[in-house]
Amino acid sequence: MTTPIDTATAARTLLTEVAGAVDAPTWSAPGRVNLIGEHTDYNDGFVFPFAIEYRTHVALATRGDGMIRVASTFDETPVEVALSELDDLFPARRDEVTEWARYPLGVAWALLQAAGVDASTVTGVDLAFASDVPVGAGLSSSAAIEGATATALAETWGIDLDRVELAKVGRRAENDAVGAPTGIMDQMASMLGRADAATFLDCRSLDAQVIDLGFAAAGLELLVMDTGVKHSHATGGYGERRAACERAAAALGVPALRDVSTEDLERLESLVDEVTLRRARHVVTENQRVLDTVRTLREAGPAAIGDVLVASHVSMRDDFEISVPELDTAVDAALAAGAVGARMTGGGFGGAAIALVSSDSAEKVTDAVASAFSDAGFAAPNIFTVTPSPGAGRDA
Ligand code: GLA
Repeated sequence: MTTPIDTATAARTLLTEVAGAVDAPTWSAPGRVNLIGEHTDYNDGFVFPFAIEYRTHVALATRGDGMIRVASTFDETPVEVALSELDDLFPARRDEVTEWARYPLGVAWALLQAAGVDASTVTGVDLAFASDVPVGAGLSSSAAIEGATATALAETWGIDLDRVELAKVGRRAENDAVGAPTGIMDQMASMLGRADAATFLDCRSLDAQVIDLGFAAAGLELLVMDTGVKHSHATGGYGERRAACERAAAALGVPALRDVSTEDLERLESLVDEVTLRRARHVVTENQRVLDTVRTLREAGPAAIGDVLVASHVSMRDDFEISVPELDTAVDAALAAGAVGARMTGGGFGGAAIALVSSDSAEKVTDAVASAFSDAGFAAPNIFTVTPSPGAGRDA
């Protein structure tokens, strides 16, 4: 993987190739890992993610003709549309737009809408992207491209929206321009990140507390174990899980599963089928686990949160059924090799698991997971550490 400086330079170089602009300013936004609180965000619940050091950078140059052009080091062909056309494209004609370009163009559209600004009053732009956030690993490469675009365009267009509003712009782009029915967690994590801290977010009020993690001081590291199993949240399982949660909340007559206690779950038993009951039980118990994690972290430090991380994985594996054999293998092997805690992270159906490990056992855990994959006949995983890092903004 490249360093952040290389990636910013790559974005600038691409902008020079595409638009001739030299020394353009760059903005960037990070991917994230979620420490705990999975599939709770769209249930108005709690999450506890942090921004990581892998970022998407965008270089920007203005142009005088009312067009927006986006280019990426991942795709040879830039995509260009008139700013005035965005309202026609999204959401109705989004399928006509190259898939990756729906993210930045969707952000431009959602940003103008959120600010109530007419496209004819803002300058045209060329945007060039480069990223070192692994794609399809469950580390929110999508929130990273959304956050970089939103901060770059808001500043360039003089749109004064705060970070929470910019996170909502990213979610709108993802929901309506891309068509993935995801929640607000990833965008908030990418916007609000801070070094050595995680964001404890109430997804109903959007109140956020940035809480120190103290991993390094406790001699701990966080390993990401990317299984290489690709997933997409625009299709299939993610939307089905969300629908099951909405069914369960409706059966109980509450706005969201956030409003359901463990006692209410008994009542739910006679109202919905067994699968829907288990989906709801995951969300209700996961909300409690987020609260327990934050409390334990404050009272006893990060070395004490291992059990609750493991309980979260078991709930996702057995009740929510979003794990895959590769994720279970990574978690089991990491724990057997002495990890403090481990769980899959992100939306599931592939992507990555995380393991909290003592610094002196990181290598042993890495080796153990790699050999468990080889024994099971799985492709080799990509295992690396991540560090809680700052959120989106203009690069220095
Ligand atoms: C994906 C979505 C998030 C969240 C997680 C699961 O990352 O983008 O909104 O729902 O899955 O916790």
